[in-house]
Amino acid sequence: MRRHPIIQMVVIGAIASAIGIVLALWIDWFPADAAKQDQPIDTLYDVLMIVSIPIFVLVMTVILYSAWAFRMRPGQEHEDGPPVHGNTRLEVFWTAIPAILLVSLCSYAYAVLNDIEQKHDDEMVVKVHAIQFAWSFEYPQAGGRPIVSNQLYLPKDQPVRFDIDSKDVLHDFWVPAFRVKIDAVPGITTRLRVTPTRTGIYPVVCAELCGLGHSVMRSTAHVLTPAAFERWLASKRAPAPVAGGGGGESRALSQEQLVALGRETFTGDGSCGACHTLADASSTGTTGPDLGRALSGQDEEQIRTDIVDPNAEIAQGYAADIMPPNFEQTLSAQQLDGLVAYLATVSK
Ligand code: CUA
Repeated sequence: MRRHPIIQMVVIGAIASAIGIVLALWIDWFPADAAKQDQPIDTLYDVLMIVSIPIFVLVMTVILYSAWAFRMRPGQEHEDGPPVHGNTRLEVFWTAIPAILLVSLCSYAYAVLNDIEQKHDDEMVVKVHAIQFAWSFEYPQAGGRPIVSNQLYLPKDQPVRFDIDSKDVLHDFWVPAFRVKIDAVPGITTRLRVTPTRTGIYPVVCAELCGLGHSVMRSTAHVLTPAAFERWLASKRAPAPVAGGGGGESRALSQEQLVALGRETFTGDGSCGACHTLADASSTGTTGPDLGRALSGQDEEQIRTDIVDPNAEIAQGYAADIMPPNFEQTLSAQQLDGLVAYLATVSK
């Protein structure tokens, strides 16, 4: 057994590395890939795993073998090992190999970074605004007022450039299905490029601890077919109804339609259900108060204030500054009217 410890270690190491590599490649580490950037990143990750596992196994086998083979035996308590003054050949070897490995992996990673950050002439710009604790997405329009949404909508196969900023503290814009992420930094605009390649619904999360509401700073990315995206844009572009002021509404809704729009906003664009429980909308969030109970007895005016100025009055047991204060900007006037009408109806 003890005659060929090196051969023994090499055999054990090779088998352990093989098992580790098979396991690492077999495990599905990432969510569905939904962007052109995903493949090069996933391959880079696999290559890093394939290279790191044998090194990890090598170090562990040497440590475990040495601890076992050279352990102290009874009677050796006061003995000291032979003095060691270094081994030039070994030192050159263990400096050169890691250096070569590091330089090659860095060059490869740099090539991947260059590839995924490539500029496209026809890229669409989406401004991403971070605020404690919500995302809003702005679509600049030629000539018109920008379109703002609480959820991210993107057309499939269209290169997108995100211009990201923060109104308060550090946040981090991340769509795991697109792999890439970047900090939102107050005072500067950071950029990220993505080309979505698969239609679907993917979570948008904040990846930087930014305060009490960090864990609920989430939104949804919808990757649509180009035609569906155009339809969504057109629906957002529809002229906002003139509120009050004797001008009359350009597209007045019946009370029933308004309540229906409110329910849709509650579960969709407003993402209210992510934080609030409301039996009628089958939502079970617990970050904010249960609205069926909290709003009962409030009139429409109070409910509107609760939405647009959430810090004006804080429900007992809940902290201030958790609910985003920007719903008046991110929802259309009609959506807001709908939300108020809907909440007044279901909380009676
Ligand atoms: Cu914003 Cu964490």
